[in-house]
Amino acid sequence: MPGGIKADVKTYQMFINGEWVTSQSAKTFPVYDPSTEEVIAQVPDANAEDVNRAVTAAKTAFEEGPWGSTTAQERGRVLFRMAEKVRQNLPALAELECRNTGKPIVEAEYDLTDVATCFEYYGGLATKITGHVNPVPDNALSLSLREPVGVAGQIIPWNYPMLMAAWKLAPAIAAGCTCVLKPAEQTPLTALEFAQHLADCGLPPGVINIVTGFGETCGAPLVQHPDVNKIAFTGSAAVGKIIVKQAADTVKRVTLELGGKSPNIFFADADFEAAIDGALFGVFINQGEVCSAGSRILVQKSIYKNFVDAMTEKAKKIKLGPPLERETKMGPLVSKEQYERVNEYLKIGKQEAKLASGGGRPDKFAKGYYVQPTIFYDVKNSDRIAREEIFGPVAAVIPFDDEKDAMKIANDSPYGLAAAVWTRDIFKAMRAVKALRAGIVWVNHMQPTYVEAPWGGFKQSGFGRELGPWGIEEYLETKQVHINLNEAPIGWY
Ligand code: NAI
Ligand code: MG
Repeated sequence: MPGGIKADVKTYQMFINGEWVTSQSAKTFPVYDPSTEEVIAQVPDANAEDVNRAVTAAKTAFEEGPWGSTTAQERGRVLFRMAEKVRQNLPALAELECRNTGKPIVEAEYDLTDVATCFEYYGGLATKITGHVNPVPDNALSLSLREPVGVAGQIIPWNYPMLMAAWKLAPAIAAGCTCVLKPAEQTPLTALEFAQHLADCGLPPGVINIVTGFGETCGAPLVQHPDVNKIAFTGSAAVGKIIVKQAADTVKRVTLELGGKSPNIFFADADFEAAIDGALFGVFINQGEVCSAGSRILVQKSIYKNFVDAMTEKAKKIKLGPPLERETKMGPLVSKEQYERVNEYLKIGKQEAKLASGGGRPDKFAKGYYVQPTIFYDVKNSDRIAREEIFGPVAAVIPFDDEKDAMKIANDSPYGLAAAVWTRDIFKAMRAVKALRAGIVWVNHMQPTYVEAPWGGFKQSGFGRELGPWGIEEYLETKQVHINLNEAPIGWY
C-alpha cells in the first residue's frame, strides 16, 4: 500500500441519488486521525462532474420526485427519525467524530446530542411554516406563500463536522429543499456513516446528497453550478469572500458564517473564579477550533495582573491527551495544515507580545498535532494575534482602562460574530449588550449555543442567521399571490 496506508483502512463511497458511488475519476484521498497522524480512511475525490451528478439528482428530486408533494408533517417525521438514528448510533458516531477531528470524546458526545436536538427542533418547526394574508386595498385576496428555495449547496468546516451538517440539513429538509452537502475534506466520515440511515428515515433518493472533495475542485463547482439555488457556507473569511464573488454570476442566495475574533470582556467587579473559568473555557474549548472562540480576552487594568496569573496557573492544569480518553480536555488540532498555521501564529505572538504559558508542543506526545494552551498578554489590539482568526488554543490578553475603552477595543475588529461581558453591574452589562457590534452577546457566560436562538455574525463574520426560526427563513422563498375577487372585466380598453 502506498504512503504507509494500512490494508484495513476503510474506503468510503459517497452518497448521490440514494446510491453509494465512487468518484468518476476513481480517485480517492486519505483521511487522518490527528492524534496518531495515521490514515484512517479513504474517500472519493469528487470533481466537477461528480458535483454535477449530485446537483442533477437534487434538482430532479426537487422538481419531479415524491419530495415535492411531501407534507410538512411528513418532513417533520423524517427529521424526528433522523434524530432517533443519531441517538441510536450515538456512541459509534461520537467515536468516529472524535477519531477524525481529534476533539475529546466527551465533547464529541455533546456534539452528537446537539445534532439529534437540531433534527428534532426543525422536525417540530416543519409544520409551523406559515404564510400571510396581505391587507391590500382592493376587492382581492392577497397572500404571501412560503416555498422552499430549491437545491441547496452546503459547504461545511471540520471543527464540528456532524453538527455543522445538522445545522445545514435540518432547516433545509424542514423547508422542503433538496441538498448537496460537501463536508470538509479533513472530516467527511460521520456524514458518510450517517447517510446509510437516510433512506430508512424516509428520505427519497436525491434529497440529501453528499459529495466528498476539496474546496477548489468540489466546493467551487457547487457554488458555480447554475442549478444550485442557494449556498450555505461555514468556514474561513477568505473562502467566504470567494464564494460571494463566485455566486454572483448565477445570483445565488448565500449565507455565510465566517468565524471571528470575539472579545471576552472582564470588568473588575466580575466574580473572579467564574471569570477565570469563562476566559479559559471561552478560548480553549475544542482546542480553540471554534468560530466564536473568545480569543481576545479584555481585562480591566485593576485586576489585570492577578487575572493573567490566575489564568496561567489554571491553564497549566488543562489536561491534554488522547481524544478517546474521557479525562481529556484538549486533543490535537485537526490537521497538519492547521497545526502549522497555529504554530506560525505562535511565532508571531512571541514577537508581538509576552508569553504567559504554553507557546508550543507539549513534550509528552511523540505523535499528533498537539498544541499547548497558550496565553499571550500585553497584546495590543492592533497586533496580528488580536486581529486575525487563529483557530487554535491561543489567547490574546489585552488590558483596558474603563467601560468606554473596553467597548472601543472590543468593536475595533473586522469581525463581529460573538462577544461576552463579565460584570455584576446590571447597568454596565446592559450598556455593553447595546454597544457591542456582534451577532451574539453573552453576559457572564461564554459559548452556550442553543438551537432555539439565532446564530450568525455582524461585519466580516458573515451574513444570514442559522438556528431557530431564522435558520429556516434562509431556505424559504416568499411568493406573492393576488386573487382578484371582481368577476367583471377590469375595463382597461
Ligand atoms: P476553509 O474555509 O478553506 O474550509 C471550509 C470549507 O470550505 C471546506 O469544506 C473547504 O473544502 C471549503 N472550501 C475551501 N475553498 C473553497 C472554495 N474555493 N470554494 C468552495 N468551497 C471551498 O477553511 P480551512 O482552510 O480549513 O481553515 C482555514 C481557517 O478558516 C482556519 O484557520 C479558521 O480561521 C477558519 N475557519 C473558520 C471556521 C468557522 O467556523 N467559521 C471553520 C473552519 C475554519
Ligand atoms: Mg482553506
